[in-house]
Amino acid sequence: MAGAAHSHVASPAALKRKRRFDLPSEMQEIKILANQKQNSYKIIVGRDILNHSSGLIKENLCYRAKKVAIISNRKVFKLYGNVVEESVKKAGFEACIYLMPDGEKHKNFKTLKKVIEFLSEQRMRRTDAIVAFGGGVVGDLVGFAAAVYLRGISYFQIPTTLLAMIDSSVGGKTGIDTEFGKNLVGAFYQPKGVLVDISVLKTLPLRELTSGFCEAIKQGALAGGELFNLTAHFLKDFPVKNFRQSFSNEEFLRLLEKLIAYQIDFKASIVSQDEAEDVDRRDSRSRKILNFGHTIAHAIEKVTDYKLFKHGEAVGIGILIEAEISKSVANFPEDELQLLSDIIGLAGKLPACHNLDSSKILQAISFDKKNINDGLEWALLEKIGKPVILEGIPQKTLEESIKKFLKR
Ligand SMILES: NC(=O)c1ccc[n+]([C@@H]2O[C@H](COP(=O)([O-])OP(=O)(O)OC[C@H]3O[C@@H](n4cnc5c(N)ncnc54)[C@H](O)[C@@H]3O)[C@@H](O)[C@H]2O)c1
Ligand SMILES: [Zn+2]
Repeated sequence: MAGAAHSHVASPAALKRKRRFDLPSEMQEIKILANQKQNSYKIIVGRDILNHSSGLIKENLCYRAKKVAIISNRKVFKLYGNVVEESVKKAGFEACIYLMPDGEKHKNFKTLKKVIEFLSEQRMRRTDAIVAFGGGVVGDLVGFAAAVYLRGISYFQIPTTLLAMIDSSVGGKTGIDTEFGKNLVGAFYQPKGVLVDISVLKTLPLRELTSGFCEAIKQGALAGGELFNLTAHFLKDFPVKNFRQSFSNEEFLRLLEKLIAYQIDFKASIVSQDEAEDVDRRDSRSRKILNFGHTIAHAIEKVTDYKLFKHGEAVGIGILIEAEISKSVANFPEDELQLLSDIIGLAGKLPACHNLDSSKILQAISFDKKNINDGLEWALLEKIGKPVILEGIPQKTLEESIKKFLKR
């Protein structure tokens, strides 16, 4: 398990552009530095760079590595798998491929067992590597398989959803769901590298884009300043409903790449100095702040049996309800709440909420796994860019804030 990291990543202004292992020059490189060198890694962001996957792998792998297992799902692999596979083979590795079933309901022990059986049958050694190629479901499960197979084998993330690019592939949280809830079994286990090719987003379904942008708005609201403005302006200029057509627009691509790099850099700046989410920390830079919008989101996902909402969509609603709670207990300004609501509107249409039962949501909150030390901690906002961790929110405040939102 990784020790707490204390080195800081490059600030956005210092994002480096480097020409390495024949990568195109227009590429962002973000370093995540941990106090244990083996836990440090880099994230590369660019366009049409899937064919450089093996460069990143080769540079960060033991010289004795022979085999690379690419683990994905049918949908993603059919779209882009051959490029990654060819790149790996061209670099002289033996490639083997496992396609897991698609969807959150497969992020479980059964799939984990199959993946581990596959790695064993392929006689993958500790010097070899795994590539998690897909959205957050693939990334979380494969990362966990990598953490436990042979007590830890190198792995790389190639995230293909917006959510996975800016959130789940950064920070080393890996895991699976159990019948008791989401992400209840897992490990902090850092990849050896992450490659983000923004070009693959052109095939991402609209609801998945909305979901990813809601997480981006969450990170923007926590960071404030430049990241918030960048996210808001991007959505104003390029509303999600026209996303796919915009791929022919050079300015859109340039800004999308910049936005994703800055989003990653923000997440990296938080996780690199609180690598394993220290339960005792409550400061405004602790990893816990990333839970803003999530206590409500998890409750909504639970009461709708994980069927009605994509995770990020539930986060969109969670942001608005938790901003309402913040207004009551942390003086979050009304005009900033309105601003958040407008920007979430630009991220796409969220599923209707009027049928949700506020008492069931309240009940679900009390089961939230983020209950620690018998007290429920909330990541809230004093204002945009100023997160705060609070405990002991009165039940009445919760109830009123939820009801107010559901009545809208
Ligand atoms: N580890 C973390 O820190 C962390 C953080 C946030 C979320 N998560 C986890 O991430 C998961 C959600 O991830 P997600 O939102 O990426 O969902 P997902 O992995 O289910 O992907 C969404 C859908 O998009 C498809 N897809 C992926 N890339 C595509 C592409 N380029 N073109 C077309 N279709 C594509 C997938 O096959 C899937 O059907 C959840 O399990 C959540 O718990 C983890
Ligand atoms: Zn989330």
